[in-house]
Parts: sequence; structure tokens; C-alpha cells
Amino acid sequence: MIIDGKQIRPIWLDEDRFTVKVIDQRQLPHRFVVADLTTVDQVIHAIREMFVRGAPLIGVTGAYGVMIAAQNGKSASNQVGFIIQECERIKAARPTAVNLAWGVDRVLERVHAASSPAARIDAARAEAAVIAEEEAENCRLIGVHGAGLIEAVSRRKNGSTVNVLTHCNAGWLACIEYGTATAPIYEAFNRGVDLHVWVDETRPLNQGARLTAWELGKHGVPHTVITDNAGGHLMQHDRVDMVIVGTDRTTHTGDVANKIGTYLKALAAWDNNIPFYVALPSSTFDWTMTDGVKEIPIEARNPDEVRYIQGLANGRVTQVLVPPESSPAADFAFDVTPARLVTGFITERGVCSASEPEIHGLFPER
Ligand code: MRU
Repeated sequence: MIIDGKQIRPIWLDEDRFTVKVIDQRQLPHRFVVADLTTVDQVIHAIREMFVRGAPLIGVTGAYGVMIAAQNGKSASNQVGFIIQECERIKAARPTAVNLAWGVDRVLERVHAASSPAARIDAARAEAAVIAEEEAENCRLIGVHGAGLIEAVSRRKNGSTVNVLTHCNAGWLACIEYGTATAPIYEAFNRGVDLHVWVDETRPLNQGARLTAWELGKHGVPHTVITDNAGGHLMQHDRVDMVIVGTDRTTHTGDVANKIGTYLKALAAWDNNIPFYVALPSSTFDWTMTDGVKEIPIEARNPDEVRYIQGLANGRVTQVLVPPESSPAADFAFDVTPARLVTGFITERGVCSASEPEIHGLFPER
């Protein structure tokens, strides 16, 4: 995306063709910091601590992590064995987004087909780059397919403002380019649709308030940050025309894991007869799980993320404690929205309902 006149992605390969550069998203929107990743430990740290985050970006970071493992293991007596071990460590960094294991395994397959240490490094680098480009293109196509849905609402409203509610950050920061949930928004905005986005702040780490608001603002998209609990009220008063969210893992039966709080938005949308769309690339479908509520692993993170809140104070990014020092806290990072509450999926191949036959209809090879 173009930010302040410069083309930028959340991850790229340095000119040395080995160092992986990432935007440290923990620091946004108040500081723009780039971090270098040259070891697998750094890759795991960046994923776990959320320098990089969002399912497609985690997948691409994991993919480049295999290249780093191959490079750092080039003199090992058993380079392939070393890479396999490192891949297992990378895949364990975060459990919910299926893209991580998908990206790592895809690169590993290329590594297995190569026959020398140098060829394995080259194969990993090439495949990681292909995945990054594919994900960017998939998100562009999600934008094209999803923009039609926003335009249809705009026509129904005779061109008056379309209000879209989104949760967390499923923007380009999470996805290389365009985003998943934001891609239809950017595309419709670029086509001249009058729209406005309600941005859930998304506690505890405030990906909506910090990242989605920053992205939309940089692109000139009208938006308002709201508390996570405001959506139901706005829906009751006809101030939301549609909800579009991303996902970290969606079963091939249509159950959607996404940032904690998404399920409550889906319930409120259902109760108010408001369309609830989920935008995702095919890399986020889990083709093995059938019952999302029972089977999708939900990440439990450090409760300090709930206890402390980060912001700018006197020109410095700082953290403050909210509850009583002695109160225990719990940090459930994701929840699962059952397929029955989802109006449809917006994918790179088009829009379908949240049903197994329609999902497989779009992706018959699975
Ligand atoms: O914990 P995060 O920030 O990695 O969570 C991922 C998300 O940003 C959302 O759940 C998003 O909607 C899906 S990823 C495009």
C-alpha cells in the first residue's frame, strides 16, 4: 500500500536476500519501527509477540522462517533434519491461524525437492516470495468480489453513506496488501462509493483502534473508532449496513475463528438482520476440521495484555495498569462464530454462502 507517498508492505526481503524486514506492529500507530529477522528465534519471537500478526502475514513470515532455517543450517551435518526441527518450532509459535503451518509446510515441500544446501536455501526463498505474491493477489481479488456487495448496498440506499462495521485488523498490515476484510472497503472507496467504517477498538491489544484506524486514515477512508461493545447499539439504530471481518481459521464447513468478540458481533448482526460477511483467502480454510467450536485451538495469551493498556502519554508510548494490581485476568485471543450466523464468505474465487457444498463448490480441488 502507499503510505505517505511510499509503497510499503508489512514484510519484505532485504537487498542481502537473507534478512527479513518486518514492520514492528506493536509500535503502531505512534512509532514506525522496522525489525530485522535473521534467526529462527527472532522469527518465533516476532510471531509470538506480534511484531507481525494476522493470519496471512503470519503464514508469509513462517514461510520466510524456513529460508532462514535453511541458511542457518547450511553447514549442519544434516541440513534437512535441522530445517524440519526448526519448522516444528516455527509452527508452534501461535496456534489459531492455520496459515502459519500452511506457509511453513508449503516451503518445506520445496526444500525436500532440492538436492544441495544452497539449492534448499534458494528454493525456500523462492517459494516464500511466491506465497507473498499470491496472498497479495488473493487479497486484491477479495477486494474486487467484495466491492460488489458494498456497491449493491449503496444502490439500495440511493447512494447515501454505506456504514460497514469491522473488528480487529484484517487490513494490509495483516495480509501483505489490501487486507481481507478491508480489501472490499478500499476497492469500493476507490470506485467512489460513499462509505464509512465503524472500527471496533478490539481489546485487549486494540488492533482496530491502533492499526485499522491508522490504515484507513492513511488511505483517506472515513471511519470512527468505537468501543467493542457499541456495535449492538449501532445495529439496533440502523447505523450499520453490513459487517465484514477477517478470520484466522475457517473450517470447510463454515465455522469462523476470528479475534475475540467477533462471535458477539455476529449474534447482534443476526438479531438485527444485518449481513455478516467473512473475507478470507483460501490459505485460511482448514480442510480437515468440521466443528470449529470443538476443534479450533484458541490461543490463550499473557493476561498482562488484558491488565495493561498501551498508548501515547506526554509524547511517549507507555503502558498503564487498569484493574486492581491483585485481580487475576484471562486473555482468550479468539472465538468461533458458527456457520449459521455467517451470511457469506468473500474469497479470491468469489462469494459463497457459509455451507460446506458452496465452499467446496468454489474450491473443488479440495
Ligand atoms: O491476534 P492477531 O492480531 O494476529 O489476530 C488476527 C487478526 O488480526 C484478526 O483476527 C483478523 O480478523 C484475521 S487475520 C486477517
